[in-house]
Amino acid sequence: MRHLMSPLDLSTEELEKILDLASDIEKDPKKYAHLCDDKRLATLFYEPSTRTRLSFEAAMMNLGGKVLGFSSADSSSASKGESVADTIRVVSCYADICAMRHPKEGAPLVASLASNIPVINAGDGGHQHPTQTLTDLLTIRSLHGRLDNLTIGLCGDLKFGRTVHSLIEALVRYKNVRFILISPEELRIPSYIREDVLKRNNIEFQEVERLEEAIPALDILYMTRVQKERFFNEEDYVRMKDFYILDKAKLELAKEDMYILHPLPRVNEIAVEVDSDPRAAYFKQVQYGVYVRMALILTLLEVELPC
Ligand code: CP
Repeated sequence: MRHLMSPLDLSTEELEKILDLASDIEKDPKKYAHLCDDKRLATLFYEPSTRTRLSFEAAMMNLGGKVLGFSSADSSSASKGESVADTIRVVSCYADICAMRHPKEGAPLVASLASNIPVINAGDGGHQHPTQTLTDLLTIRSLHGRLDNLTIGLCGDLKFGRTVHSLIEALVRYKNVRFILISPEELRIPSYIREDVLKRNNIEFQEVERLEEAIPALDILYMTRVQKERFFNEEDYVRMKDFYILDKAKLELAKEDMYILHPLPRVNEIAVEVDSDPRAAYFKQVQYGVYVRMALILTLLEVELPC
């Protein structure tokens, strides 16, 4: 039985297979419409979500399966003190596979150790968000036709933004990928990513504060929201929240084929006027999230695929 806690749980070959499967699902979704007719997905969300929970549920429904779950800790027996280990043992009796989001880093891993069904980390605290990474990789590959030879700018809250941590870990496995890490001093990338992932793998990277300085060199600009829920005090959040605002004027500095990604939700960091720019890819990215989660469910459930 396989779980997915981090993108590194998948080899590059496995990851490519999932992306290929997702691309095939995009081309011919009907071919996959009944492969999970007898399967159930549980979504155990101890923290708010729109995209991840609903795209997992849409993915399972698109495969013919059923979904059950809860969307907040308050509406589950966690509010009475039940542990994630006990919860997953119980849910293993109701479902074939589970996606779990939790504010505590490592909670889905604890669940996976007690589980009789595959557990997918749907975001744990400021740590990892591997299915957002699969979504991001599929989006980049679909837009640029490759995952190597790219200069990627990651902008905003690089300290608490778990999607950034997972994406860097996945992309360092591709050749000639360079990063420009754009953040205020207080929201710089955690040292374990800088030292253990970037430096250890001899990856070219720069850390800068000004978006305008970085933007002309980029093939992808990955914007992120300042993660309000991870700040210890409101004052710091208010000071940081509008540090970056991507608008049409800044986009004039960018290449014609520099695509803009964002895991969403967006707050103020991308002006609405940017949405109509052909390089704005963040709503396309949402659709890719459904295809890639369909591919992941099929893979973890080891469903036999049609030819
Ligand atoms: N991208 C993402 O994780 O969005 P949600 O928090 O809405 O699931």
